[in-house]
Amino acid sequence: MAKPTVFVTRRLPGGALDLLAQHTELRVWEEELPPPPQELRSQAAGCHGLLTLLTDRVDTTLLDGAPNLIVVSNMATGFDNIDLPAASERSVLVTRTPGVLSETVADFTFALLLAAARRIPEADRYVRAGRWRTWGPSILLGRDVFGATLGIVGMGGVGAAVAKRARGFGMRIVYHSNSRKPRLERRYGMTFLPLEELLRQSDFVTLHVPLTAETRRLISRRELGLMKESAVLVNTSRGSLVDQTALYEALKLGRIGGAALDVTDPEPIQPEDPLLTLENVVIVPHVASASVATREHMAKLAAENLLTALRGRIPKDTANREVAAAWRAARRQRLASLS
Ligand code: GLV
Repeated sequence: MAKPTVFVTRRLPGGALDLLAQHTELRVWEEELPPPPQELRSQAAGCHGLLTLLTDRVDTTLLDGAPNLIVVSNMATGFDNIDLPAASERSVLVTRTPGVLSETVADFTFALLLAAARRIPEADRYVRAGRWRTWGPSILLGRDVFGATLGIVGMGGVGAAVAKRARGFGMRIVYHSNSRKPRLERRYGMTFLPLEELLRQSDFVTLHVPLTAETRRLISRRELGLMKESAVLVNTSRGSLVDQTALYEALKLGRIGGAALDVTDPEPIQPEDPLLTLENVVIVPHVASASVATREHMAKLAAENLLTALRGRIPKDTANREVAAAWRAARRQRLASLS
């Protein structure tokens, strides 16, 4: 029997592509920039499996033009780049890579939090600009992290890994999520609060919720107005959780103290974006999961999820497992041309 056809939208680290090459007819997009939408659609048209990144939009046009598509394996925890209801309606399975990146993203969340609190990027710029003339009692003073209150919004894998680190830093931890987590509350000594109260009490607010219709612009002018004037907002989730115009205003007018952003809206941030003119913002290019080991794990898991689905089993990390029955029948039909 011929092998199923798979398109991967970028070169991947580690052995993921070798694994896919053994079991599929593999095509790989070799460029640094993502395939343009038209190219992605035309590649998808002949495929049984797609391995996508968060930069690739999987929409109804793509799905309607890909009659043999069985699975879209997203190499990311988030899957807001994929129209999930549309994939489900067409019995296409969607998988993702949660879990393997939680500790790495939590490390990075703390790196950003500390960078903003202790003004590390500003201090680096200060040295490089030749401004370091002496040790001074009032030079580059920042905020203490130990003893401060950390508000964690979202208590999934990453939120919990951030709480674990915050405990080591001697922080008071409050959190908000869709449901209470009594075991984690006991383990990390943290308190559940309604979002508004969390925003009022926290010295640092960090976002760990997925981007959905409900969470888009979760932090807007009103929410920023509830935060302390000294508070720092950290975002390693998705840029669209925050109203960026309102954030700029709040930072510019000193309504909050600072922000540390791994994610922006849009990505990449435009060079003329006014946020880039502010000293009290740290911005990095969506790299929270970017450790060598974690990116290799993510790529391997995405490849394994894709192969598992092509073989007719539902991977653990499936975002739409409710379509399983219809999907099994559709999969057989879509592979029929190969036999
Ligand atoms: C990265 O942002 C991810 O969702 O994995």
